[in-house]
Amino acid sequence: MEWTFSLDNINELANQFWKAAGEKKVFAFHGQMGAGKTTFIHALCDAKGVKDVVGSPTFSIINEYVYDCEGTKRALFHMDLYRVKDEEEALRAGVEDALFSGHICLVEWPEKAQGIFPEDALHVYIELINSTTRRLKIADN
Ligand SMILES: Nc1ncnc2c1ncn2[C@@H]1O[C@H](COP(=O)(O)OP(=O)(O)O)[C@@H](O)[C@H]1O
Ligand SMILES: [Mg+2]
Repeated sequence: MEWTFSLDNINELANQFWKAAGEKKVFAFHGQMGAGKTTFIHALCDAKGVKDVVGSPTFSIINEYVYDCEGTKRALFHMDLYRVKDEEEALRAGVEDALFSGHICLVEWPEKAQGIFPEDALHVYIELINSTTRRLKIADN
């Protein structure tokens, strides 16, 4: 599936994304620096009703947020592996524990630790088209 979007309709796309995601828990966001990964993850968190202010987790690898799921508080992890050197460092930081926790995980720079992702992770690709437009693709399966 593929969508073209801008900041004007990012919230609509975030809602559609969660519908398309089904029961998936782990989402790997690929895309160059500035593509819009953090911004889209922020919109996904808003759509889930995450209360904390979600900023770029540039200086911490794992950020844990809480949202309300039909009356139950659930954790949601936003991870940015940009500063992670390799899989070993990711393991030490607790990335694998989060990925297999059963909680929703939204991960930037997954290629830094490809080998520790669950096989059923949903890979998402964000591309910059121009200054106001982005393209988002998810594999059909
Ligand atoms: N869908 C979008 N349409 C237009 N501009 C966007 C979009 N998403 C993000 N941006 C802008 O692009 C810049 C980089 O976004 P960011 O989410 O930090 O990228 P990344 O996390 O991929 O490095 C920000 O200035 C942001 O406002
Ligand atoms: Mg980012």
